[in-house]
Amino acid sequence: MEDRIVTPSVLNGEGENEYSLRPKKLNEYIGQENVKNKLKIFIQAAKNRNEALDHVLFYGPPGLGKTTLANIIAREMGGNLKVTSGPAIEKAGDLAAILTNLNNMDVLFIDEIHRLNRSVEEILYPAMEDYALDIVIGKGASAKSIRLDLPNFTLIGATTRIGLLTAPLRDRFGMLCPMEFYSEDELSEIILRSADILNIEIDAKAAKEIGRRSRGTPRIANRILKRVRDYSEVKGNGIIDMESSKAALKLLEVDNEGFDSIDNKILKAIIDNFNGGPVGLETLAYFIGEELDTIQDVYEPYLIQKGFIIRTPRGRMASDSAYRHFNRSRSDKKPRQSTLFDK
Ligand SMILES: Nc1ncnc2c1ncn2[C@@H]1O[C@H](COP(=O)(O)OP(=O)(O)O)[C@@H](O)[C@H]1O
Ligand SMILES: [Mg+2]
Repeated sequence: MEDRIVTPSVLNGEGENEYSLRPKKLNEYIGQENVKNKLKIFIQAAKNRNEALDHVLFYGPPGLGKTTLANIIAREMGGNLKVTSGPAIEKAGDLAAILTNLNNMDVLFIDEIHRLNRSVEEILYPAMEDYALDIVIGKGASAKSIRLDLPNFTLIGATTRIGLLTAPLRDRFGMLCPMEFYSEDELSEIILRSADILNIEIDAKAAKEIGRRSRGTPRIANRILKRVRDYSEVKGNGIIDMESSKAALKLLEVDNEGFDSIDNKILKAIIDNFNGGPVGLETLAYFIGEELDTIQDVYEPYLIQKGFIIRTPRGRMASDSAYRHFNRSRSDKKPRQSTLFDK
């Protein structure tokens, strides 16, 4: 993916910085009240019984705080965090090695857990259910299966695509936690917190404006904050106010809704080339030259949540808000092919 400012994925060189902005405790973590309330109770209960927390699955679009929560849980449980990801674990033996190196109360975080391969996944079933590892010794008729005990650990899975998880894996999680987009107020709170950590001066109105245009996503809010700071330092007195925020967002090509050129391309294609829809996601992806997965995981969720795209059994449709976004109306039928790529 290109380096678009509103991409919820981690951009090159952002890793270090993200770390310092990550809340370390549950009560510093802003928003996601449902998930937080559930976690608070179950963490407390597990600690009282001196047991590991039950396995947790976080699912939802990138940049909403899944990895952050995994870190927080490990800390609250007093265990170590081991981080890996579905594609990184190639063989069953790799996972077995990771599991046998854990200690009681440790947390194993598997990002992109929907991308685990089948033979690796099968190791997880007894590990999650019985804290056990089944290994086969020998070959053919003399092969024997022995069972090793594993420490009491917590598996935390994260995925952008819960639909791709197999039922046996999904069912072994004790807690399924859907991650939601953040409200403008929550994002502005996150921006003020980050500004404080990074020693950036920003007024409340500007924080709200940046929050409003951050696609409901803390990672994007933090990124825009830093770029707006750059702008204010070069073009102004370094203090971020409404004026410098608006000017910087314009330069960054983030529109009034927080959409960038690709969001607009998607909406325009549905309106102009498919007469408002319905159009299948595959056709749409092909038409605008983006990966199907990227549209599905990254762009579409926010456009649907904001009510610009409607998902129907026959495909995606543009809503009235989408037409209004381009000052268009549904009766305005004339196809404007040329507008598709002019952004
Ligand atoms: N609830 C939150 N409060 C404050 N900052 C947050 C919150 N959630 C996420 N962030 C910020 O957003 C960044 C991305 O979060 P991350 O946990 O990496 O998202 P994900 O794993 O879902 O892609 C973090 O580095 C952190 O700075
Ligand atoms: Mg993550």
